[in-house]
Amino acid sequence: MDEILLSEHLTGLVQGLYIVAGVLFILALAGLSKHETARRGNTFGMAGMVLALVATLLLAARNAELLPDQRPFAITLTLIIVAMLVGAAIGAWRARTVEMTQMPELIAMLHSFVGLAAVLVGFTSYFEPGAADVGTMAAIHLAEVFIGVFIGAVTLTGSVVAFLKLSGRMKSAPLVLPARHLLNLLILLVSAGLLVWFMVDKSGTAVVPLLVMTALALFLGFHLVAAIGGGDMPVVVSMLNSYSGWAAAAAGFMLDNDLLIITGSLVGASGAILSYIMCKAMNRSFVSVIAGGFGSDGQVSGEERDYGDHREASVDEVSTLLSDARSVVIAPGYGMAVAQAQYPVADLAARLIARGINVRFAIHPVAGRLPGHMNVLLAEAKIPYDIVLDMDEINPDFASTDVALVIGANDTVNPAADDDPSSPIAGMPVLRVWDARDVIVFKRSMATGYAGVQNPLFFRPNTRMLFGDAKARVDDIVHELG
Ligand code: TAP
Repeated sequence: MDEILLSEHLTGLVQGLYIVAGVLFILALAGLSKHETARRGNTFGMAGMVLALVATLLLAARNAELLPDQRPFAITLTLIIVAMLVGAAIGAWRARTVEMTQMPELIAMLHSFVGLAAVLVGFTSYFEPGAADVGTMAAIHLAEVFIGVFIGAVTLTGSVVAFLKLSGRMKSAPLVLPARHLLNLLILLVSAGLLVWFMVDKSGTAVVPLLVMTALALFLGFHLVAAIGGGDMPVVVSMLNSYSGWAAAAAGFMLDNDLLIITGSLVGASGAILSYIMCKAMNRSFVSVIAGGFGSDGQVSGEERDYGDHREASVDEVSTLLSDARSVVIAPGYGMAVAQAQYPVADLAARLIARGINVRFAIHPVAGRLPGHMNVLLAEAKIPYDIVLDMDEINPDFASTDVALVIGANDTVNPAADDDPSSPIAGMPVLRVWDARDVIVFKRSMATGYAGVQNPLFFRPNTRMLFGDAKARVDDIVHELG
């Protein structure tokens, strides 16, 4: 009697903790949507995760209480703690050593783990269905397993390909197989047929359709992401974020774990919203991006075209230009992240502001290699949020700007997106830096950016190039300004 009471109490406590953790995760997402509240949002998220872990341990204790003939609780607890310590040690080591520029690939890799987890949970749950092994519950459980493994497998290989592309181990050009849309459709149809076989098979061979579907889904994940190229990769990152959420939610259904369903759905939905925002920022339709085959075709557009000559500026000239300016807009890009130039850039901005110059930062939604990449770097260097403006806010102001400093940005300031319909990035809204009176571009060479597209901005009459590592060049200017 006492034991039943204890397990009832534990069940109630676990449910209560789930609700509190779920609310904390929602508050975390709300907090992360603004700079000012991002830190608080992170704290909510961490608190929610601690409660979720406590609830998981309590759940294991309750199950041991209810099923005393199973493995002793002490062993389960030890296994969970050892797994958590190993995971935490690896996570802490990676978090400390990862370069900011490697964050996107790390995130892609982490998404693949969620996919792998969903596949493993699916198979385990198929072979050991536990309480769900009877009647209608068994049928629902089978469908959960099948769908969960499918989403997990697509997420797994999709994320691995994204990791390879983002880390430069695989070419970013889209893989365009003949009849690729038909191929995807066929895989979906065959998988639906396999689901029916899986559900009705009573002869013990149901594992066959499960295995065949897993192989097909693994290929589908690979194909979907391999077919997306160049400038469309931002959508892939957020899309896989969304898939990993749905994979976690599917695992939640299989394990009958409400918190995993809530958390997975939150990640899935927020990833989908982020993908939509990214598509809007790049003026692409969501469906056309996920169907694949977009982005750079691997050929450098405009390479044949003669844009004329570019002009170079010296550190001296740029310092004078800045000293005489009344308004300056800084447009950072991936190169600022590579050079870790955010600290000297913050120093430069502070010095110009101290001289009474109106300094602002222009942030393109897909600058860098991660959603919010530039915002994170600028916040790291303690640049005040009120001078960091979004593309839509700052674009009309370039015409009244004296000097635009482009620091390691390329695709996001490419006028071809605006005025060359044949460009692979045509239609993508960009920062209109060329409207400023003078434009100074900080980069090391005339090389193209991520999308592999030449940038006519570099050849405009009001543009001058300041070659070299962005950090070193900005340091030189700070030094010159004194
Ligand atoms: P990019 O077009 O990638 O260009 C960055 C430029 O930085 C390069 O042209 C490079 O030129 C320069 N650079 C590199 N290291 C440098 C250093 N140490 N010092 C100075 N310059 C340096 O950058 P962007 O304008 O930020 O555009 C982002 C691109 O990435 C877009 O095409 C976007 O679609 C894509 N993308 C974005 C995301 C997200 S979510 N933001 C994810 C995946 C892909 P040099 O080599 O000549 O120096």
